Amino acid sequence: MREEIKKYLAEVRESIAQSAEEAEAFRVRYLGRKGVLNDLFEDFKKVANEEKKVLGKELNDLKVQVQEKLDDFQAKFSRTESSRDESIDLTRPTGELPVGTRHPLSVVRREILDIFSRMGFAVADGPEIEDDWHVFSGLNFPDDHPARDMQDTFFVGTNPEMLLRTHTSSVQVRAMEKSQPPLRIVMPGRVYRNEAISARAHCQFHQIEGLYIDEGVSFADMKQTLMYFTREFFGKAKIRLRPSYFPFTEPSAEMDVYWGLQTEADHRITKGTGWLEIMGCGMVDPAVLSASSIDPERYTGFAFGMGIERIAMLRYQIDDLRMFFENDMRFLKQFERLV
Ligand code: PHE
Repeated sequence: MREEIKKYLAEVRESIAQSAEEAEAFRVRYLGRKGVLNDLFEDFKKVANEEKKVLGKELNDLKVQVQEKLDDFQAKFSRTESSRDESIDLTRPTGELPVGTRHPLSVVRREILDIFSRMGFAVADGPEIEDDWHVFSGLNFPDDHPARDMQDTFFVGTNPEMLLRTHTSSVQVRAMEKSQPPLRIVMPGRVYRNEAISARAHCQFHQIEGLYIDEGVSFADMKQTLMYFTREFFGKAKIRLRPSYFPFTEPSAEMDVYWGLQTEADHRITKGTGWLEIMGCGMVDPAVLSASSIDPERYTGFAFGMGIERIAMLRYQIDDLRMFFENDMRFLKQFERLV
C-alpha cells in the first residue's frame, strides 16, 4: 500500500489540467465516490494497527496534495467556467454610450441656413485657399485697398496671387461665374484674417454670406429678407440699416437689430444704445456683376454677410471668442440639448 501511495503522490505532482473539463476529471479520479482516495481509505481500514500511524500520515499527505492541486486548477478555470454557465441574454440593452454634442457654431450655422432655405436659398460653397481674383479683384477691390495688405491677409507661400480667403464673398464670385441669374444662395464657410487672437478677434472664424440676383431685385427686398431672418432667429422685429461701405456693394449698409435694454447684460453688449450690429449688406455693385459676365442692365441683386461666431456669442451670451476653438468639454457640454 505504501508503494501505491507513493505512485499516486508522484502522479498528482505531475498532473496538469488544460481546461475546466480536465480539472473536473482530476477531481473525479481522486476525490470521486469511486475515486483513488476513497479506495485507499477502504484499504486502510484493513491495515494492521501498528502500520496505521505511518500509513495514515502518508495517506493524509496525499489527500492534502490532491486538494491543493485541485484548488490550483479551479482557480485557473473558475472564471471561464462561471461565464460559460451563465446564459447570455442577447436582447438586453447595452449601457448608455457616451455621445458627443454638436458644436455651438454648427448649431447656429444649421439654424441660419434653415431659415434661409425656407426662403428658397440654396447652399453653395467654395475653397478656403483662393486666388486674388475671387477674394478681391472680382469684387471690385482697388489694387491699393488696405484689405490686400499683409496686415489682414494670409498669403500662401511667396505667391501674392494665392491666399486664404478673408471673407466668404469669394464664393459669390464663383457662383456668378458658374451660373446666370436667377441666383439665390447662402454660403457658409471658414475665413482667415491676420489678426492677433483675443476675446473678440481670431485669425480664423466663420461667415455666412447670402446672394440674391434676379430681374428687379430691390433694396426693399433685401430689407424684407433680413427682417424675416432677424425675427426668425432672434425673435426681434426691429432692424435698422446704417450707411456703410464695401467695395462690392453700392449702396452698402450695416444691419443692426434692436436688442432692447431690459437687463444689465443688454446695456453692456449694446453699449447702452439697445442696438447691436449683426451684418454687412448692400446691393451688388454693377461693376461686380459685369466682372462675372452678368448683365447689370438687366439684373440687380443684394448680398449680405455675417460672422457665425458673433451671432452665436449674442445668442448664448458667450463673451470670449476663443472658447469656440478650445474644445473644452465643460463648455461644449452646455450645448448638449441644442442639437
Ligand atoms: N464680406 C464682408 C465682410 O467680410 C461682409 C459683406 C458681405 C458685406 C456681403 C456686404 C455684402 O465684412
